[in-house]
Amino acid sequence: MSLTELALRNAVAGYAGTTVLENVDLSVKRGERVGIIGRNGAGKTTTLATAMGLTQQISGQVLLNGVDVSTMPTAERSRRGLGYVPQTRDIFKSMTVRDNLRTGLQGGPDARLDEAYALFPRLHERRNNFGNELSGGEQQMLSIARALMGQPDILLLDEPLEGLAPVVAQELMVSLSTFSSQRGLGCVLVEQHVGLVLDFASSILLLERGRPAFWGPTEELKKRPELLASAIGLKSNASSPASRSAAPQLA
Ligand SMILES: Nc1ncnc2c1ncn2[C@@H]1O[C@H](COP(=O)(O)OP(=O)(O)O)[C@@H](O)[C@H]1O
Ligand SMILES: [Mg+2]
Repeated sequence: MSLTELALRNAVAGYAGTTVLENVDLSVKRGERVGIIGRNGAGKTTTLATAMGLTQQISGQVLLNGVDVSTMPTAERSRRGLGYVPQTRDIFKSMTVRDNLRTGLQGGPDARLDEAYALFPRLHERRNNFGNELSGGEQQMLSIARALMGQPDILLLDEPLEGLAPVVAQELMVSLSTFSSQRGLGCVLVEQHVGLVLDFASSILLLERGRPAFWGPTEELKKRPELLASAIGLKSNASSPASRSAAPQLA
C-alpha cells in the first residue's frame, strides 16, 4: 500500500467570487513535514481550507491518495485521513478536557485518550477542567490533541503557536515532530515564526499574494534569503538556522 499523500495541483480557489489562490502546488506524505509561510493575507489559511473543502475551488485538483476529492465534502475528507486544527480553535469551552477529546474520537475507542495524555501530559493533569478554565497554551494543545483523536494520516495546523510563550511553543513543536516521526503523521504547518517552520519542515510553500513564490525543499529556500526578504520582509540573517532564536523580523 502506498503512503497516504495529500496534494494540491495547480489549485485556484477563493470565496464567493473572489479568487485568492492562484496555481498553488503542494504535497505531503505520511511522516513528512511541510510548512507554509507568507505575510498576513497571503493565502495560508485559504490553502489549508481548500485542502479541507472549506473554500470555493475554482480549478485544479485536491488529491488524497491519488483520488481527486475536490467535490467531496469536508467530512468525507476527514474520513479519508485529513485532520485540521483551524486558526480559530474549535474546542468546547463548557466541556471538560476529557469530553472535548471524546468528541474527536469519531467512534474510536476511549483508550486513545491515553495517547493524547502521553503526548501532552498537561492535558492529563487538566482532564477534568472545563475548556474555559484552560490557559491559551492548554487550549492549543487540546485543539491539536482533539484533531489527533480521529487518527488522521495528514494533519493541517493553522498557526498552532499563536499567543504561546516561546518555551511552550518550542515544547509543542518537539511533541509534534516526535509524533510525526513515530506515527508517520504527515503535517502541514502554517506559522508566523518563520525560523521554527524552517527547522520543522523539509519542504516549504512560500506564498505571496495568493501565488507561490517558492515551493520546494527547505534547504533550497535557505540558500535564497532574497526570496524570504521579498516575500515576507524577513531580514536575510534570520533565515540562517543558527539564528533561530532571533525573532523573525517581519516588515
Ligand atoms: N471568508 C472569506 N471571504 C472572503 N475573503 C476572504 C475570506 N477569508 C480570507 N479572505 C481573503 O483571502 C485572502 C487570504 O486570506 P488568508 O488565507 O486568511 O491569509 P493568511 O492566512 O495568509 O493570513 C485575504 O485577502 C483575505 O482578506
Ligand atoms: Mg491565516
